[in-house]
Amino acid sequence: MDILGVVATALWAMLPAYVPNNAAVLAGGGRPIDGGRTMGGRRVLGDGKTWRGTLAGTLAGTALALALSAVTPTVSDVVGYSLPRFPLLAGLGLAFGAMLGDIGASFVKRRSGRERGAAFPGLDQLDFVVGALLCAFVLAPSWFARTFTLPVVVAILLVTPLLHVVTNGIAYLLGLKNEPW
Ligand code: CTP
Ligand code: MG
Repeated sequence: MDILGVVATALWAMLPAYVPNNAAVLAGGGRPIDGGRTMGGRRVLGDGKTWRGTLAGTLAGTALALALSAVTPTVSDVVGYSLPRFPLLAGLGLAFGAMLGDIGASFVKRRSGRERGAAFPGLDQLDFVVGALLCAFVLAPSWFARTFTLPVVVAILLVTPLLHVVTNGIAYLLGLKNEPW
């Protein structure tokens, strides 16, 4: 596959992991996962990680994966590359993993003294990628091995931070997010 095909596959395969965090921003609120509990004088996760946001994000990403699967043959024809379909467990792994990665990052941020909403360059852009890849690997190992070849993983690691910066900047300008990261 040529480089465009690798990038197209990387973006396509990660769509179910890109959407959950944005869905959580739109749907978030309500009871925080940590229930307000603290650890060493700081919140375990903070008010930015809620049950509702996590559930909404996971459902949105999984639903998107199923929808993408339905149009995979058509889109593959149009772009001229054979894009992957998403078995249910692959979609669920990507979506839930993205949420878990983001939650893990909040845990790390609180432990390092950063308040809710504080930036942590690097972690902010890749937390959900690492979570999504790990969870997809656990839930759908053979799909993972077929889909995430080394060039595809490299493309994901290079393109995702760029995309993340751009989409969060847009969400900030639209007033959907309090900070542009
Ligand atoms: N959100 C949520 N549940 C999640 C993730 C996000 O409800 N699991 C919602 C919250 O309303 C959150 C918003 O999406 O404020 C933006 O998400 P994010 O930037 O990840 O959270 P922050 O508020 O910046 O908090 P943190 O510093 O912990 O990342
Ligand atoms: Mg944030």
